[in-house]
Amino acid sequence: MKGVILAGGTGSRLHPLTRITNKHLLPIWDRPMINYAIEALVKGGVSEMMLVTGGTHAGEFLRLLGNGDEFGIHRLLYAYQDKPGGIAEALGLAEKFVGGDRAVVLLGDNIFERSIRPCVDAFKKQEKGARVVLSHLADSQHLRHLGVAQLNGDRRIERIIEKPKVPPSEYAVTGIYFYDATVWGVLPRLTPSNRGELEITDVNNWYLEQGLMEYDVLDGFWGDAGESMEAYYKVQDFVRDHPVNRNDS
Ligand code: DAU
Repeated sequence: MKGVILAGGTGSRLHPLTRITNKHLLPIWDRPMINYAIEALVKGGVSEMMLVTGGTHAGEFLRLLGNGDEFGIHRLLYAYQDKPGGIAEALGLAEKFVGGDRAVVLLGDNIFERSIRPCVDAFKKQEKGARVVLSHLADSQHLRHLGVAQLNGDRRIERIIEKPKVPPSEYAVTGIYFYDATVWGVLPRLTPSNRGELEITDVNNWYLEQGLMEYDVLDGFWGDAGESMEAYYKVQDFVRDHPVNRNDS
């Protein structure tokens, strides 16, 4: 399985900090934000990955990560996204790298307390399709800023609603996604959303419509450090006080 880390976008919710650097290079406690995504994939058993980024600070990632040796990466490639056209557009840049293999896609601003390895292993066993990872959040105000799963009576996901005014459940869709090679046929069918982006939620809803989507529910803390200034500091506080991606977590 190949890893794809998405670290482009404008980071506008963290302005003015992100006027002077890429969001994913901002510190989260003792290391840059992007390190957590790299560590999560490596600890999850993924050793070949592509980092997709863009903007004027893209070169800094090379300075930080080099060829990935220091992080235990076997093969690290980079792609440049010309403009922030959305998560699904950024994913499209990894098509040649992933080829006919399966992909685990991780948003570079997501921080997971526990290892993602159980999800990676579950997707390896899944015959085909896609997989998302949910996190239980009781705060409906928070859910309105995320993708939220609408579940039916059998606890199957019916649909994912992006930034819902009225959240259909207390289960947020985290920024880790698993796809088989059919995803490359889904991306060209997408049309830009109201925010002018190709949405990963539209990709996931395609798989749901085909009955080809499974999911896990996370244990432990999950944070989207790019969601808002409050979320950024909530993640900082958590990471300062708890081991994240350390050998004992
Ligand atoms: O964090 C989880 C949430 O991430 C999900 O619940 C939502 O369903 C999903 O749409 C996404 O929502 P956000 O609004 O938080 O996405 P954002 O625009 O912040 O982008 C997430 C990451 O993707 C960010 O780390 C940078 C990367 N990205 C984003 C865009 C728009 C790119 O690499 N290129 C892009 O063009």
